Amino acid sequence: MNKVLSGIEGLDKLLFGGFPKGRAYLISGEPGTGKTIFTLQFLLEGARLGEKGIFVTIDEKPEHIIADMEALGWNVRDYLENGILQILDVTSYFSHTELSAKEGLDVHHITEDILAFVKKSGATRLAIDPIAPLVFAEKALPEITDYIRQLIFSLEDSGDLTTLLTSYVPVGSDRMSQHGVEEFAASGIVLLRLTKIQNKPIRTLLVRKMRGTRIELSEYSFEILPQRGIVLRQPI
Ligand SMILES: Nc1ncnc2c1ncn2[C@@H]1O[C@H](COP(=O)(O)OP(=O)(O)OP(=O)(O)O)[C@@H](O)[C@H]1O
Ligand SMILES: [Mg+2]
Repeated sequence: MNKVLSGIEGLDKLLFGGFPKGRAYLISGEPGTGKTIFTLQFLLEGARLGEKGIFVTIDEKPEHIIADMEALGWNVRDYLENGILQILDVTSYFSHTELSAKEGLDVHHITEDILAFVKKSGATRLAIDPIAPLVFAEKALPEITDYIRQLIFSLEDSGDLTTLLTSYVPVGSDRMSQHGVEEFAASGIVLLRLTKIQNKPIRTLLVRKMRGTRIELSEYSFEILPQRGIVLRQPI
């Protein structure tokens, strides 16, 4: 099976070589657990390898994303200039969500636009950060479930595109996504947590599910370091 290097130090070993290519994965966690950094690191690894990547930002302005990457010591200007890395800004669609929902914000249309943009660009790595606003417009759970399934099928359609979708987990819950259905449709889940060991706060990562490959099921502590970003340490 073709694998895609994750760019996260220590993770590819747990995935026995990387993310299986052509599928969509959920990166889940409470606020501040490192979901955005994870996906950016995945795209940067691609850029280094000459693989085109697109970061779809829904919650944060591109300037902030770039500033945060630079604060981590990641020089991304060249990649952005030569287009191997692109940031697709859809924040404006969602800036007045409630208003827009009333006026019939058409998330299906936005999703189609995103997919068309990605296909045209020839990107093989995609991150959508976060997925929830793209599915919130559906009110009832059966429709949400259907829509998420459809969205993931379309993303996995070409077989060449490997996608990371970030997903909020409500603070203090043991869920893996906002609606509780995203995790069934996605081909895999990486769960990021903030926890305490002997009263000391630590960050952890667990590969919770990964279709089509062996995984190591231990939860690993990790750090976020300048230049290196997320670096896995040891099983907890
Ligand atoms: N330059 C840096 N050096 C070290 N740690 C950093 C740096 N930048 C961010 N962090 C850490 O990473 C955390 C945020 O990571 P990130 O933005 O990826 O989280 P997130 O899960 O996407 O959060 P949210 O749900 O709010 O979008 C910060 O809370 C901070 O502790
Ligand atoms: Mg984030």
